[in-house]
Amino acid sequence: MNNPHTVTHLQVTDTLQLRLLQEDDADWLYELVKAGQEYLSEWLPWVDTMRRPEDARRFIRTGLLQQEHDNGFQMGIFERQVLVGVVSFNYINWKRGRTELGYWLGEAYQGRGLMTMACRAMIDCAFRKLDLKRVEIRCAVSNSKSRAVAERLGFVEEGVSVQFEWMNDRYVDAVVYVMTDEHWWASRKEII
Ligand SMILES: CC(C)(COP(=O)(O)OP(=O)(O)OC[C@H]1O[C@@H](n2cnc3c(N)ncnc32)[C@H](O)[C@@H]1OP(=O)(O)O)[C@@H](O)C(=O)NCCC(=O)NCCS
Repeated sequence: MNNPHTVTHLQVTDTLQLRLLQEDDADWLYELVKAGQEYLSEWLPWVDTMRRPEDARRFIRTGLLQQEHDNGFQMGIFERQVLVGVVSFNYINWKRGRTELGYWLGEAYQGRGLMTMACRAMIDCAFRKLDLKRVEIRCAVSNSKSRAVAERLGFVEEGVSVQFEWMNDRYVDAVVYVMTDEHWWASRKEII
C-alpha cells in the first residue's frame, strides 16, 4: 500500500490496540455481531443483514477498498488480541479536512471505557497524522450511550439533523457533535 495516509495500527494502551480489519477477522467479527445482535440492531440497522460469516467478510473487504480509495477506514478494536468492537472513519473529505467517526462495541465489552479510549486514539490520529480539521459524531438523539461517548471526549453539540436516519421502523433525528483540531489541542494542553 503506497497511500501516504495509510494507518494500519494504533496502540492505545499496553493491552488495547486498533488495527485495520483484515479478511481473516471475518469469523470473529461475525460472532461478535451475532452475540450482541439484539442490542446492536437497535442502533445499527445493518446488523440484521449480517447473516453469515461471508457477510462479515464482504464488510471487511468494503472497508479495505474504502482505505485504498483514501476515503476512511475500519479499525478492529482488540483487547489482549481479542476483537471487542469496531471504530471507523466513515469517510474522509480531504478538501474540507473533515471526517465522521463511527463505532460499536460487542455487548459484553461495554461499560469499561474501551470505546472512549479507542475514539481518543482515532481523533488524535485524525488531527496529528492525517492533519484534518474537524471530526463529527452523529448519533440518534435517544442513543444515550453513544452521546455519552461524544460528550466524555469533549465534543461540542452543534445541532440536530431531523429525520436523519431510517432506524428499523422509523426515521430518527440525529445529534451532530463536533471536535475541531484547535479545540482538541487546547483540551490536550489542559490535561498535560
Ligand atoms: C455506543 C457504545 C460504543 C458505548 O459503549 P460504552 O461501553 O458505554 O462506552 P465506553 O466503552 O466508552 O465506556 C463508558 C462506560 O464505562 C465507564 N468507564 C469505566 N472506566 C472508564 C474509563 N477509564 N474511561 C471512560 N469511561 C469509563 C463509564 O462510566 C461508562 O459507564 P456508564 O455508561 O455506566 O456511565 C455501545 O453502547 C454500543 O456499541 N452501542 C451500540 C452501537 C451504537 O450505538 N453505536 C453508535 C452509533 S452512533
